[in-house]
Amino acid sequence: MELKVVKASVEKSEGLGWGKSLLVPSIQEILKNDSQSVPERYIQEQKDRPLISQNPFDSLQVPVIDFSMLAQKDANEIRKLDLACKEWGFFQIINHGVREEIMVNMKAAMAAFFELPFQEKSKCAKAANEIQGYGQNFVVSEKQKLDWCDMMFLKTFPHETRNFKFWPLTLPGFKEAVEEYSTEIRKVSNKIDANLSVLMGMDQNGLKRKLGEFQQGIRMNYYPTCSRPDLVLGISPHSDGSLFTLLLQDDEINGLQIKHKEVWIDAKPIPNSLVVNIGDAIEILSNGMYKSIEHRAISNEKKPRMSIATFVMPGDEVQIGPLDSMVNEKHLPRSYRNIKYIDYIRQKFAMKMQGKAHTAIVKL
Ligand code: OGA
Ligand code: NI
Repeated sequence: MELKVVKASVEKSEGLGWGKSLLVPSIQEILKNDSQSVPERYIQEQKDRPLISQNPFDSLQVPVIDFSMLAQKDANEIRKLDLACKEWGFFQIINHGVREEIMVNMKAAMAAFFELPFQEKSKCAKAANEIQGYGQNFVVSEKQKLDWCDMMFLKTFPHETRNFKFWPLTLPGFKEAVEEYSTEIRKVSNKIDANLSVLMGMDQNGLKRKLGEFQQGIRMNYYPTCSRPDLVLGISPHSDGSLFTLLLQDDEINGLQIKHKEVWIDAKPIPNSLVVNIGDAIEILSNGMYKSIEHRAISNEKKPRMSIATFVMPGDEVQIGPLDSMVNEKHLPRSYRNIKYIDYIRQKFAMKMQGKAHTAIVKL
């Protein structure tokens, strides 16, 4: 039943690219007029509200992977990576080779954009039938609760997917910072892809051979302060639709939480590291050996928080499904159906961010 409904909505959106989202007000602007306000549309249902007091699972830490050891093909570090992907779906990488200056410039460029007057930012605003630009995505109903966040989503690779109509080209240094950051992140993601290929039973070019040139998109999240962080969510629980995602987060402010063994754990920032998480596409390709884990962001009363999520994705026309090396009809039966990547992405953008609901659709 459910499948049919989704299929119909996907077909209806043909010709629309990746999807659409209702237009919503900027929460940053709402707060400029009244910094204490918590509009009704942002107040989560009781069951969805975060626990803001001291986290009882404070001692649990997302695994840390030393990227320089992976480059040396250190067997122990590769084992750690495999375990992190299996048991957490999340890890933080240190010594990843992206120079600090490039990360600092990217964060500064993003901050400069969000500090612009609303009218200026609006020149990069997304249209209702687009998912690129400044605004918000995954809003599919006037009734749904809204996230305490404004965002900017830009496609960055391949080059021809860049749509400069959404880039603040008059903001000094913005374009250069995004170009440099996205290029450096691509080098890191190529290395992650090579390692995952080997861990999934192929040679290091296995994923590239199967999926062709990857796409990359960057989502910049601006989370304003909130006078009642216990009532709202910065970003609702979801898993990412990517192969994997690399997140550059604030060096000091906690916000990202991961659902680990049914409890929400803080991904405490390690300065200069990148948080990496497995996305739905790797879950499907790995036949469920590596799962895309639900995560969310909470807001806080003290300081706005910014984060930059870089999504690494297959090409739109690529079929994704469990890799031959990950299926063994006797011991590891195929548990996902094949789907063209753009169809997967369209059904994802056609829904509210809702935990793992969209992965369930391709499960056998
Ligand atoms: C995302 C995301 C988390 C964060 O953009 O997909 O999960 O901490 N962001 O901003
Ligand atoms: Ni995410």
